Amino acid sequence: MAETSHASAHQTGHAPHAEGTRRDFLYLMTGAMGAVGTAAVAWPFIHQMNPSKDVLALSTTEVDLSPIQQGQAITVMWRGKPVFIRRRTEPEVQQANAVNLGDLPDPQADSARAQRPEWLVVVGVCTHLGCVPLGTKATDPKGEFGGWFCPCHGSHYDSSGRIRKGPAPKNLEVPTYTFLTDTRIRIG
Ligand code: FES
Repeated sequence: MAETSHASAHQTGHAPHAEGTRRDFLYLMTGAMGAVGTAAVAWPFIHQMNPSKDVLALSTTEVDLSPIQQGQAITVMWRGKPVFIRRRTEPEVQQANAVNLGDLPDPQADSARAQRPEWLVVVGVCTHLGCVPLGTKATDPKGEFGGWFCPCHGSHYDSSGRIRKGPAPKNLEVPTYTFLTDTRIRIG
């Protein structure tokens, strides 16, 4: 008897509490999304893909570049992989071009990697064992060469996405992409 009344009192008291918890949870989720910062900017772009072309979207991804400020980078998904798009500053471009190619583990000129110097588009998968390097979010460490840093085993990439230090053997891959307009690209 005592147990029954305890259970019912518990249930009655619990329902509003559960709703409150759910609201709190949603609120926290929203907060967490905001905290992701520039990386979160990527998701609206993905949803801009024409929904009637779902199948095509698996092989290509269109990205609106216009919200990306100089010095900012975003991540978009393409064929299940993250792709980093960085709008480089003038010093970052200069830095990428000032490198002696003979010093690079995987020698490649910046001009062979970036169709337009201001924009760098690379697959965000470390060429060592496939981790996603840090450096896209404003608060991320960018490594010793101002690009990306893979903390898995300590690979440093420069502002052209080229491997400069650490165990990764290759530069970050440049995917096939096309400028549809000055502020829109199609990857794939
Ligand atoms: S996976 Fe990046 S350093 Fe090992």
